[in-house]
Amino acid sequence: MIHTRISGTGSYLPGEPVGNAALIAAHGIESSDEWIVERTGIRSRHLAAPGVTSSDLALEASRRALEAAGRVPADVDLIIVATSTPDYVFPSAAALLQSKLGITNGAPAFDVQAVCSGFVYALTIADKFIASGSHKCALVVGAEVFSRILDWKDRGTCVLFGDGAGAVVLEAAKEPGLLASAFHADGSHHGILSVPGQICGGVVTGDPFLRMDGQAVFKFAVKVLADVANEVLNAAGMTAAQVDWLIPHQANVRILQATAKKLHIPPEKCIVTVDRHGNTSAASIPLALDESVRAGRIRRGQHLLLEGVGGGFTWGATLLKF
Ligand code: UT7
Repeated sequence: MIHTRISGTGSYLPGEPVGNAALIAAHGIESSDEWIVERTGIRSRHLAAPGVTSSDLALEASRRALEAAGRVPADVDLIIVATSTPDYVFPSAAALLQSKLGITNGAPAFDVQAVCSGFVYALTIADKFIASGSHKCALVVGAEVFSRILDWKDRGTCVLFGDGAGAVVLEAAKEPGLLASAFHADGSHHGILSVPGQICGGVVTGDPFLRMDGQAVFKFAVKVLADVANEVLNAAGMTAAQVDWLIPHQANVRILQATAKKLHIPPEKCIVTVDRHGNTSAASIPLALDESVRAGRIRRGQHLLLEGVGGGFTWGATLLKF
């Protein structure tokens, strides 16, 4: 049986952190640092400079992940980028990343669009490719420039998001690795979180900005995150008490706390980066993973529970031995 394991992690945040007060002043937002910190836990985020794209951020994160894995770009035989803010309508951010990395071995490259669950979706897909024996070394990336789809007049959303990228190298291995994954969708909830616009006949039609019913998303997120976490724990024959680190999608510190509580995982085992990154959608989980690995908090052999929820609605979780 072919197992899969993460052999290296990397991440990248553009520019200097932008604090709540500076963001409010720059865009004339009717808000306050107090409100944002109290309701979300967010204190700052990073914003990509004009012209910097998701594939640019993905490139830096990928280079760091490959270096950590002891791999070179030519070793990669599968590239999956999770993003809802790709550089272009097409080609995919993954194809652009392949070109920027100078990978010329014909490795398949494609994007996964599952919004904030995108990284868990991409990791689950890469795991299945490698476990089937068809591929050996996958680059799995979450990269976003959500600042490009924010309406700075909508204070209920524009203070929540940030830009960044995280990447892992996933390889075939003799020992597990990834222990269990689950991913789901329920499109009937598409209306509570969306960017309901498109390009048609050379013009933008509909609304090109992120729209969200925050309270509906909050309630849905807490329920499905706990459910899907229990699903992968059951599939692996493990309990929440055996989890060393919970690495949730970073949307709101209150959602992280509520999910950890529902799972009976103590808050000190829950990785929190939303205070410094904001919500970076598909990038948030690999960013949190890499930051904690490099800080020496997450160590080899520990059990990690990754979980995400996002527009669609989509949700998923992966349980792994690091
Ligand atoms: O990645 C997955 C997608 N996103 C999420 O998971 C986000 C889920 N939802 C949330 O995190 C929270 O619902 C929010 C942070 C978005 C909002 O927090 P809330 O506690 O649910 O606030 P609310 O929407 O009920 O709004 C409460 C009040 C309202 O004023 P009134 O009607 O009570 O006078 C809002 O207009 O807060 C007001 N408000 C703000 N005030 C200052 C909304 N946004 C802001 C703001 N600054 N930025």
